[in-house]
Amino acid sequence: MEGRLAYLRWRRFLELAALDRPWVARLLAPKHGAGPAPAEHWDGVYQAGAYDRLFNSDERHHHRLLAALVAGRIPKPSVLEIGAGEGAFYDTLAPFSPSRYLGIDLSEVAVERARARLGLHAHKPSGLFPRPVRRKVEFAVGDGAAYAPTETFDVIVFAECIEYLGQPEDFLAHYARFLAPGGIFGFTQWLNLRPIQIAHQIKALAPVLDEALISAPWGGAWQVWTCDPPGPR
Ligand SMILES: C[S@@+](CC[C@H](N)C(=O)[O-])C[C@H]1O[C@@H](n2cnc3c(N)ncnc32)[C@H](O)[C@@H]1O
Repeated sequence: MEGRLAYLRWRRFLELAALDRPWVARLLAPKHGAGPAPAEHWDGVYQAGAYDRLFNSDERHHHRLLAALVAGRIPKPSVLEIGAGEGAFYDTLAPFSPSRYLGIDLSEVAVERARARLGLHAHKPSGLFPRPVRRKVEFAVGDGAAYAPTETFDVIVFAECIEYLGQPEDFLAHYARFLAPGGIFGFTQWLNLRPIQIAHQIKALAPVLDEALISAPWGGAWQVWTCDPPGPR
């Protein structure tokens, strides 16, 4: 435990140095590693219970800060979350009474678990002229690199998934089309050299509104920020 903490602290030193020095991240980040993975990979991760810990209180301070930041700027927002997993961020957002929430994830296992946990099992329309029912809170399977919703949102959140969505300029431009007027993006990301590079790219494209670092005593740390979409408002 002592050894692990010492390692995490050494890593944290490098990560903090990389936060405002993009060249440090470029120099030290592994050239290969995490990146887009197929749905089966994520299904396996959820089936193995590897992400059960994401519901632990001391793994969710970043969700708490992001939920407060977005609801502080836009009360009762409509929210699209990309990479929503089993809905841990939704749990944190719910006390802020979002007017609408749609969570998208590549993993069917994660989406099914979110629906089961929140009692949201798909409603089957019945009757002579069945009409689809849209619920206020929904989870759906989709590829967050290019998911195209049929509505706009006040806030689009990316919680710990910017590494898996392809080029930042592409997914930012794509999702900017689905922001309501005055809408914003929200991000949280585990502090690590590779995603720090992606965060630098995003911040160079999209003007930052709020930004903070969260650090937990057990060694975990996250960057949290909100931003306007790229380009003129
Ligand atoms: C580290 S987990 C974060 C889960 C959740 N957002 C949280 O903060 O607790 C990364 C999530 O991104 C999802 N993911 C990965 N690639 C994706 C893609 N292309 N489209 C949508 N979701 C994706 C995974 O299935 C997984 O749920």
